[in-house]
Amino acid sequence: MSDRVLVAESLGKTYPLPKGDLRVFEGLDFELGRGELAAIMGASGVGKTTLLNLLGGLDRPSEGRVLVDGEDLFAGADREVAAVRNRKIGFVFQVYHLLPEFTSLENVGFPLMIGGVPKKEAFHRALGMLLEVGLEDKAHSRPSQLSGGEQQRVAIARALVNAPRLLLADEPTGNLDWKTGERVLRLVLDLHERKGLSSILVTHNEKIARYCHKVYMMEAGTMKLLTSPPS
Ligand SMILES: Nc1ncnc2c1ncn2[C@@H]1O[C@H](COP(=O)(O)OP(=O)(O)O)[C@@H](O)[C@H]1O
Ligand SMILES: [Mg+2]
Repeated sequence: MSDRVLVAESLGKTYPLPKGDLRVFEGLDFELGRGELAAIMGASGVGKTTLLNLLGGLDRPSEGRVLVDGEDLFAGADREVAAVRNRKIGFVFQVYHLLPEFTSLENVGFPLMIGGVPKKEAFHRALGMLLEVGLEDKAHSRPSQLSGGEQQRVAIARALVNAPRLLLADEPTGNLDWKTGERVLRLVLDLHERKGLSSILVTHNEKIARYCHKVYMMEAGTMKLLTSPPS
């Protein structure tokens, strides 16, 4: 088994806009080793979310390839890409993206049911995952009844309920105050270790980046590996 769980080769993304094409980056190479925890930093608008969306199969690149466990993520139709994503990749967003009409339990159980797991088993596993993020007592609450930190913990449970090997988090603490954010960060670090994940954290926060094994700086369409953690 390769120790590179995620590889991007000559990746490029161009958004067609009415005023002309916007080329966010091109020829970008990146790799994530098994068990590695990498931070991606960079100024707002530089393309961090765009990159993470390509690495996680949420959007298609204009050029280049993404290999997950050595397999071309975009080889198939959109439905197949979504199926690979559902099985192998957990995504956490800055703004949680929980379904407002659903309880925590339903939100966490949803990816399992999409993957064909019977409802009863899905809820059983979802409850186990809520337990792991310390929110079993909020299983029947809706997102509007939860704090920001709790909503993000539900989102983390949802991201990991399918036991993916890869966790991609886009500024997961960006909407939280420092103390709450730190608690969410510790949870992510703990789950990364305990579940043997390979993870990428996009963050603006240098303190958070210092917890990571590698720190990349995205700048004008290129990725630079920082040799020492940001101070
Ligand atoms: N869906 C889209 N359509 C057109 N332009 C986009 C889209 N998403 C992002 N952009 C543009 O691409 C650039 C990079 O955005 P983004 O990846 O969100 O940056 P970051 O996450 O680093 O703040 C920005 O100029 C942004 O306006
Ligand atoms: Mg972003």
